[in-house]
Amino acid sequence: MQRYGLIGKALGHSFSKEFFTDKFKREGLADHRYDLFELADISDFPQLVQADPELRGMNVTLPYKQSVIPYLTSLDPLAAAVGAVNTIAIRNGELIGHNTDVFGFRSLVEPIIGSLRDPGSDVRPRALVLGSGGASRAVAYVLREAGIRFRIVSRDRSRGELTWDMVDRTIVSVCKLIINTTPMGMHPNVEEAPPLPYEALTTKHVLVDLIYNPERTRFLKHGEEMGTRTIGGLAMLHAQAEEAWRVWKG
Ligand SMILES: NC(=O)c1ccc[n+]([C@@H]2O[C@H](COP(=O)([O-])OP(=O)(O)OC[C@H]3O[C@@H](n4cnc5c(N)ncnc54)[C@H](OP(=O)(O)O)[C@@H]3O)[C@@H](O)[C@H]2O)c1
Repeated sequence: MQRYGLIGKALGHSFSKEFFTDKFKREGLADHRYDLFELADISDFPQLVQADPELRGMNVTLPYKQSVIPYLTSLDPLAAAVGAVNTIAIRNGELIGHNTDVFGFRSLVEPIIGSLRDPGSDVRPRALVLGSGGASRAVAYVLREAGIRFRIVSRDRSRGELTWDMVDRTIVSVCKLIINTTPMGMHPNVEEAPPLPYEALTTKHVLVDLIYNPERTRFLKHGEEMGTRTIGGLAMLHAQAEEAWRVWKG
C-alpha cells in the first residue's frame, strides 16, 4: 500500500481526499490511498509519520504551511524561496518540502495578467493580497515574478504593510487585482467576507479567492454585484494537486 494524505487543523472544507481517491481509481492504482489527518498541533506531525511507514507523500494546509518546516529534512529550492510548504515527499525516511501552490496560483493568474495592464502604459499593475499566511507567500512569489506591485493586508502591522482599517476606497480603486488568501468565507463560515469598501470596485478589477469551498464566496459575490471579474480557487486546487502528484512520482 502507498499512502498519501493531508494535514491541517480542521479539514471539513477539504476536497483533497475526493480528488486523489478519484484519481487513483481512474488510474487503476488500487494500492494507493489518501486520507485526511487533523492535527491539533503541528508537534503531533513526527509521530504521525513515524507511525505509518507506508506514507509516501503529504499535503499541508492551514495553518501549518510554515510551522511544518522545522520538522522536514530539507526544502526544495522553490519552497525555500517561498518560505512555505504545501507538499511533502517522503523517501527513505527523508521528508522533502515542496511548494505547489506557486504552480497552482500561477496557472490561475497568468491568463489575466495582460488584462491588468493599461494598453500603451508602462505602469506596473498593483494588487492587494489579503492575509499573510502560507498561501499568501506563494501568491507574493508569483506576483513578484509577474512584475505586479502588491501590498499585504494583515490583522497585525508587523506581518503586512496595511491593516484592515487602512484599506479605504482609494487603495481599492488603485489595486485592480485583489486576492483573498485568508480563510474568511470558507466553509462553514460562508457568511463572512473580508471587510473591504467593495463599492470602490469597477469592471476593471479582478477578485481572486483562493477558497474553493464554497465555489462562490461572499467576497466574490460582492465583486459580482459591482460587475467585477471574479475567480474562485477550484482550478488552483486541481492544478496544485496535479503538481503534488508529479512531485510524489519524482
Ligand atoms: N485553492 C487552493 O488550491 C488553495 C491553496 C492554498 C490555500 N487555499 C486557501 O487559502 C486560505 C488560506 O490558507 P493558508 O494555508 O495560507 O492559511 P494560513 O497559513 O493559516 O494563513 C491565512 C492567513 O489569513 C489571515 N487570517 C486568518 N484568519 C483570519 C481572520 N479570521 N480574519 C482575518 N484574517 C485572517 C492570517 O493573516 P494575518 O495573521 O496576517 O492577519 C493568516 O496568516 C484557506 O482558505 C485555504 O483553503 C486554497
